[in-house]
Amino acid sequence: MADQKKVILSGSTVTGDLTLGNYIGAMNNWKSLQEQYNCYYFIADLHALTVAQDPKQLKERCFSFFAQYLALGLDPKENTIFVQSHIHEHAELSWILTCLTPMGYLNRMTQFKEKSQKHVKNINAGLFTYPVLMAADILLYQADLVPVGEDQRQHMELCRDIVTFFDNRYGEGKIKMPEAYIGKQGARVMALQDPSKKMSKSDDNEKNFVSIIDTPKKIQKKIKSAQTDSDTVVTFDKEAKPGLANLLTIYSVLSEQPIDKIVAQYEGKMYGHLKVDLADLVVETLNPIREKYEDLMNDKAYLEDLMEQGAIKARERARDTLKLVYETTGLIYRR
Ligand code: TRP
Repeated sequence: MADQKKVILSGSTVTGDLTLGNYIGAMNNWKSLQEQYNCYYFIADLHALTVAQDPKQLKERCFSFFAQYLALGLDPKENTIFVQSHIHEHAELSWILTCLTPMGYLNRMTQFKEKSQKHVKNINAGLFTYPVLMAADILLYQADLVPVGEDQRQHMELCRDIVTFFDNRYGEGKIKMPEAYIGKQGARVMALQDPSKKMSKSDDNEKNFVSIIDTPKKIQKKIKSAQTDSDTVVTFDKEAKPGLANLLTIYSVLSEQPIDKIVAQYEGKMYGHLKVDLADLVVETLNPIREKYEDLMNDKAYLEDLMEQGAIKARERARDTLKLVYETTGLIYRR
């Protein structure tokens, strides 16, 4: 069966909640991606197990993440949205790829080094083989393109190396060589307390991000305490006033007004005015999303139903690849 559209695949580990940055990225991206590509999105719950998880919390987080994507407008009819552990082929392919991956390659992974420093008491083998499972996630769907952040670049490179190892051992052309996808650069939303880095859901400092399901009170507080400079004149200057520039960028995207116009609006006013208005705007924007999220979380049966439908679609593709890999490697494929 030939694909008409290229395949995009992306996974997200279940740590933290999605942020205002994700909201802005999603708005610009998902609709156009789903038109151009065959899109697979999954919740990487198996990857989450590489650090200690409370079982009850993990389960709740998986539902929560799934619901957050839906609340943000990811359409389960136009995209395949699923939970990693629902497709047992991920773990199976991962083992086969593990046997092709030299220890030395995994030893070099900076994320492994960082995480083993952070979790000194739990440096488990899963943390070490994490990137192999990630490669399995990607290769299982014969993905063409994988949108990843800077922090996942090295894993992406390893995934490509693994395809080469596979090709060298078993012959070329069985598994598609994936590429990192660099989307068109939308507005970058920076951390509220440190505008030199991106807003991230896994930031240790909660004040750095607005989560899409934060209460209005929390949102107000976070925006009002966002770091700005000690000047008072509202101008857009990323170098000299990165904090303010970040707030103006968010304002501009959410209000769909050019930055110049917003700057003009605050001429002669203090930063505080801008912050109050921006906080209201963010609350207003995220309100319907939080409400939709809460409705979804109150209907777990519905979420489970969607998860199942997603898994059925995903498994179709995963199964084809695993069968091919079994046949290629000399394992007897059993349906
Ligand atoms: N490691 C990725 C992250 O932490 C999540 C992930 C797991 C992923 N498997 C993937 C991303 C496959 C892209 C493709 O962000």
